[in-house]
Amino acid sequence: MDDEKISQFIKDRYGKIARGEETFCCPTCGPTPGDQCLAVGYTPEDLASVPERAILGVGCGNPTSLAELREGETVLDLGAGAGIDVFLAAKRVGKQGRVIGVDMTADMVAKGMALAREHGFSNVDFRLGEIEQLPVAAATVDVIISNCVINLTRDKLASFREAYRVLKPGGRILISDLVTEGEIPDDVRKSFVAWADCLAGAMDKEDYLRTIRDAGFEEVAIVSQRPYESQEIDPRLKGKITSVNVRAVKGS
Ligand SMILES: C[S@@+](CC[C@H](N)C(=O)[O-])C[C@H]1O[C@@H](n2cnc3c(N)ncnc32)[C@H](O)[C@@H]1O
Repeated sequence: MDDEKISQFIKDRYGKIARGEETFCCPTCGPTPGDQCLAVGYTPEDLASVPERAILGVGCGNPTSLAELREGETVLDLGAGAGIDVFLAAKRVGKQGRVIGVDMTADMVAKGMALAREHGFSNVDFRLGEIEQLPVAAATVDVIISNCVINLTRDKLASFREAYRVLKPGGRILISDLVTEGEIPDDVRKSFVAWADCLAGAMDKEDYLRTIRDAGFEEVAIVSQRPYESQEIDPRLKGKITSVNVRAVKGS
């Protein structure tokens, strides 16, 4: 498959979601973005504490709740979307801390920046860029979070190597993502829609953990996992998609 075409398809899809022209699930077939978030681990208090328009219902976990963020830390969110996790992290790290959200879809970045301005978040920054080539200086970040994004990247090893590069020694990652357990039909792997739905690009669970280790990370561990059931998926995929929260550290 052509990497450029997949990337453009994903940008178009998430651009429409950012502009409110589409929801992740079709409007009549499923829950609201807020319900979707509750189903993947956010609390009602989490949702009440962030700008409502940042809640898109496109994540598969709640990484800030597991990242043990501390006051003053610098956090990077890979594929930040409209910023739900950026805003949650910003509250946890406080005014002395800083949160950077990177996303490759211009409308997502514009929306995150507008929400930050409107809601007075002075410790956040949204940047346009790709995870495989982060617009972030080396060894400047304490914690990296990400929510249902690495599966969308074509080169997972490059993505984790970049994460490793920008982390300070001793820094950590807490990644919520979808992985596969069992064979995924070829036609699904080749479907642009399934790519944008975070399914076609999902990697086998053991390969995923190995890739994180290959990028240099240590103490790679699944913090929690559960079957992914939060949207109408192809019946052939039932039981084969798992939502994982993975933690790892960059040695000091
Ligand atoms: C499923 S959404 C998740 C958004 C956000 N993390 C959330 O939970 O609301 C995926 C996001 O990742 C972005 N994305 C996908 N591939 C990317 C890449 N290679 N580099 C940067 N951003 C990417 C998309 O533009 C989209 O906003």
